[in-house]
Amino acid sequence: MAFQPSKLGTKEHWDKVYEEELANFKEIGDEGEIWFGEESVDKMVEWTEENLPPSDDLSILEIGSGNGTLLFALAEAGYSQKVLSGIDYSPDAVNLSQAIAATREMNTIQFNVCNFLAEDTPTLPKMAGSTLEAWDLLLDKGTYDAIGLGVKDDEGKSPAAKYPARAARLMKPGGFFLITSCNFTEDELKTAFSACDTGLQYHSRIQHPTFSYGGKSGSIVSTVAFQKKSQIQM
Ligand SMILES: C[S@@+](CC[C@H](N)C(=O)[O-])C[C@H]1O[C@@H](n2cnc3c(N)ncnc32)[C@H](O)[C@@H]1O
Repeated sequence: MAFQPSKLGTKEHWDKVYEEELANFKEIGDEGEIWFGEESVDKMVEWTEENLPPSDDLSILEIGSGNGTLLFALAEAGYSQKVLSGIDYSPDAVNLSQAIAATREMNTIQFNVCNFLAEDTPTLPKMAGSTLEAWDLLLDKGTYDAIGLGVKDDEGKSPAAKYPARAARLMKPGGFFLITSCNFTEDELKTAFSACDTGLQYHSRIQHPTFSYGGKSGSIVSTVAFQKKSQIQM
């Protein structure tokens, strides 16, 4: 689906959101919005436990980690904090996630300010050197949606067009990308991410409650997993 750019696709918007959420957290301890609700967090954690059970050998990166809810839930489910990393381009999102982490004794989870579309992703301490082809699992909950609402370039391309290839280059061969979206359907996600130049292929999906409207049925959110091919298939 083609979206008109909206304020949700701007850094100014997210800076303002997290400035307010950080102030609220400091004042009343409110950790902020859980995008798509607790159920989507639980389902993404369950998928991860089934497909990549906790191990110190893992490396997991959330793209656009916001207040850090998903990474905290993984740590609570038994994943070592040392394997968990979040990036967000909004500095106050990172300040908020670090402030929440401090109250939960989860300071070893790494949170960094990073524009996923434009900068190199910081590595975990255990990853010597490059972040390319280095991650076992990339997570996205609402970030591709936000990026899809960004201003189009002169050729009319959304900033989201760059996203699949940038994600794929960070993933280990055999690694996974698990995304939850409300703006893109499962089929749209499959078309965007399993294009041949990314080396990604559809792996599985998470079932969400469905609704029916006007004779059509669908889910409010879609969660789809992709896997990077282990080797080039001719
Ligand atoms: C809908 S929020 C979701 C936050 C978090 N994943 C969650 O579920 O609570 C989208 C997030 O993406 C971040 N974001 C948007 N574009 C980004 C980019 N280019 N690089 C890094 N983070 C980005 C925003 O700052 C915001 O935290």
